Amino acid sequence: MHFHHIPLLLLLSGARLAAGACPNSCSGHGTCGSDDTCTCYQNWIMGDQDGGDCSDRKCPYQVAWAAAPDMNGNVHTYAECGGVGICDRSSGDCDCFDGYTGRGCGVTTCPNDCSGHGTCEYLEDVPFGVVWGDYYDGTSADKTTLGTAAATLPQTPAWDTNKIRKCVCDPGYTDVDCSRRMCPKGNDVLDERLNLVQALKYQKQNFTLVAAGKYGDGIAYKDDGVYAQCTLQNDPTASDPDCFKDFVNRTFALKFTSKLNQSYTTIPLVLNHTSRLGELAEAVEDALESLPNYVISDVDVACQLVYLQTNMTEWKTQQFGKYSYSQAGYPSLSCSVEFVGSTVMGPQYLLEVVTEECTDGCTPMLNNSVNVKSASNTTVDDLIGGKTMDDYFSFVTEDVKADYNSYECGRRGKCDYSSGECECFEGYTGDRCQTQTALI
Ligand SMILES: *[C@@H]1O[C@H](CO)[C@@H](O)[C@H](O)[C@H]1NC(C)=O
Ligand SMILES: *[C@@H]1O[C@H](CO)[C@@H](O)[C@H](O)[C@H]1NC(C)=O
Ligand SMILES: *[C@@H]1O[C@H](CO)[C@@H](O)[C@H](O)[C@H]1NC(C)=O
Ligand SMILES: *[C@@H]1O[C@H](CO)[C@@H](O)[C@H](O)[C@H]1NC(C)=O
Ligand SMILES: *[C@@H]1O[C@H](CO)[C@@H](O)[C@H](O)[C@H]1NC(C)=O
Ligand SMILES: *[C@@H]1O[C@H](CO)[C@@H](O)[C@H](O)[C@H]1NC(C)=O
Ligand SMILES: *[C@@H]1O[C@H](CO)[C@@H](O)[C@H](O)[C@H]1NC(C)=O
Repeated sequence: MHFHHIPLLLLLSGARLAAGACPNSCSGHGTCGSDDTCTCYQNWIMGDQDGGDCSDRKCPYQVAWAAAPDMNGNVHTYAECGGVGICDRSSGDCDCFDGYTGRGCGVTTCPNDCSGHGTCEYLEDVPFGVVWGDYYDGTSADKTTLGTAAATLPQTPAWDTNKIRKCVCDPGYTDVDCSRRMCPKGNDVLDERLNLVQALKYQKQNFTLVAAGKYGDGIAYKDDGVYAQCTLQNDPTASDPDCFKDFVNRTFALKFTSKLNQSYTTIPLVLNHTSRLGELAEAVEDALESLPNYVISDVDVACQLVYLQTNMTEWKTQQFGKYSYSQAGYPSLSCSVEFVGSTVMGPQYLLEVVTEECTDGCTPMLNNSVNVKSASNTTVDDLIGGKTMDDYFSFVTEDVKADYNSYECGRRGKCDYSSGECECFEGYTGDRCQTQTALI
């Protein structure tokens, strides 16, 4: 555009023709008009006035935190320094009031800089909950496939998008400024269970992996033949191991997050043969119990191969051509994990299953990992005459709720928030005050 060159020309000619006619020759930051007034370049001003001698700088403008309403009632118009800072007219930098920072004071600071134990994040980027299962636990309509981090919900853009921040604390720390350490949590030894007649219940989680199948849609075929679809009649462990081959010699890992928000991932786990589920269960148990810091003192694990059944009552009675489909389903590897140890009393965060292939210098190294169902293919036309098949993805659920509870220091001690250690009341001892020393 030609306009960009005009100021320079005018400045040169102005120096020759009309020096002094404009105040201070517009300080070199503007053009001198025929009526001897300056038109300042962008970002130059005089005090609060346009024009003058263009000797002052403007500061960055931001969506105002608070401003007087405009004609439309909008109070979040653009304001210099966001309306929460004073412009230094010589440098053009904002001097922001406490709590605000950034160019034009456009964003908030975090309390106490998160005390060195956390990061300052935009609200939009702060996840809900702690683990993926806080969003998707297999019972929701989404039945979304596995994930290994708390997800963030998409936010509707608003005037304060990308402006407000909060602390996200490092594992083991809490409070709005991440200044407090967390203490171990456990059952209140004197707290009565809900139903003393029933046997004590430990929390039991269930992780179920749905295999990808030939097309990534979870539907399995014997010998990869298109018309030999695996059904519930195929015995997974003996006669038709083919239907479950997606799990054999394939690795996965489990990620456990403690109540102090510390995450640990197991060594790779592998099912060596469809008939060796007992060994897998033992391996899962060992792997969880050998996580660092004795986070899990004891778990009981059982694994099975199952067809995750879909709603196909109609299929049973119908025949399509020469094929009769009693019941189909998604071949799945399913394990239950019961938290019976003293360090994992009460409700725990849901486990996460790591299946992402990861071979170069990562921990754990997952080579040849389990390929889980990722696509939907609910209509299998050629097989069952257009009947639809409920969709089902891999999931982790809480199958049995714990009878025990999970309180800071078992509610029988106070947490020393600087050390993260429990100071047990008289008569109680243990790292989470879980033991009575003397009975009165
Ligand atoms: C759905 O399954 C059929 C066979 O049952 C296959 O031919 C087709 O490619 C699959 N479609 C998708 C999107 O996976
Ligand atoms: C799994 O690995 C074993 C030993 O390497 C091998 O004999 C077997 O055929 C493999 N099974 C499958 C289904 O890949
Ligand atoms: C737990 O840690 C994750 C990151 O590891 C973080 O996003 C989350 O906010 C933390 N939760 C709490 C309650 O501190
Ligand atoms: C599977 O086989 C490998 C080596 O063949 C062995 O190291 C591992 O312990 C076995 N895993 C299970 C769960 O049996
Ligand atoms: C199964 O399908 C029938 C008929 O379409 C429906 O009435 C029933 O609610 C379904 N059950 C489940 C558990 O989805
Ligand atoms: C896990 O839950 C699924 C669906 O409810 C069930 O079919 C499967 O048997 C459960 N697995 C275990 C090991 O209990
Ligand atoms: C991954 O496993 C395959 C065989 O399953 C092997 O050939 C390959 O060397 C392994 N890669 C790494 C990085 O260990």
